Amino acid sequence: MTIHIGAQKGEVAETVLMPGDPYRAKWAAETFLTDARLVNETRGMLGFTGTWQGNPVTIQGSGMGMPSLSIYANELIRDFGAKTLIRIGSCGGMQPYVGIRDVIIAMTASTLSTPSRGIFKELNFAPCADWSLLRAAVAAAEKKGTKTHVGGIYSSDVFYDERPDLNEQMTRHGILGVEMEAAELYNVAARHAVRALAVLTVSDHLQTGEALPSEDRERSFGDMVEIALTAAFA
Ligand code: HPA
Repeated sequence: MTIHIGAQKGEVAETVLMPGDPYRAKWAAETFLTDARLVNETRGMLGFTGTWQGNPVTIQGSGMGMPSLSIYANELIRDFGAKTLIRIGSCGGMQPYVGIRDVIIAMTASTLSTPSRGIFKELNFAPCADWSLLRAAVAAAEKKGTKTHVGGIYSSDVFYDERPDLNEQMTRHGILGVEMEAAELYNVAARHAVRALAVLTVSDHLQTGEALPSEDRERSFGDMVEIALTAAFA
């Protein structure tokens, strides 16, 4: 048990999928895992452990934003021995060729500020995905025929952005989409020498204003979960 995760030692698998939304953790566990059981409900941040194709998996909500994700990633790694952490989440599209429902696999994540800023100070550390997971996720997406983009994303600290100029610069520099967690996941994973990846579904688009209707979300998000699970055990 840790401050934020009420599970007992041994109740958390080495492979952890991390959606931002705890209810999506519940949905993904009920939809994709066998014998999923609730292992954490501290602060309502639900976590479930079960198996996928015989492999133990935990699906633990991370909350929104890098400070929240950082708490869960640190405790999962340091106290529960997690070795593979895959964020499954939504993002906003930032390129005209990136469509709603497309999947983005993040090689790297640019960010203005993260809980790791205090460590790096003036250094611009480049948070980067685990290559074996990235390669396996791309292969899984190609096999499924999911429209997928692989490249850089932007991990923002704010959803209601008062600096549209930053989004413009990200778009200009080829960044595929914006979300709020991946950069810190990659930072924490690097610090503890474990594997991390972010597999994202485009839920809205910054330029077109298009947004995924809520009834479409589950089906679209299902591809992302299957890609993440396949990559974890490739
Ligand atoms: N901005 C930040 N985070 C997001 C967005 C967005 O537009 N869409 C999904 N997560």
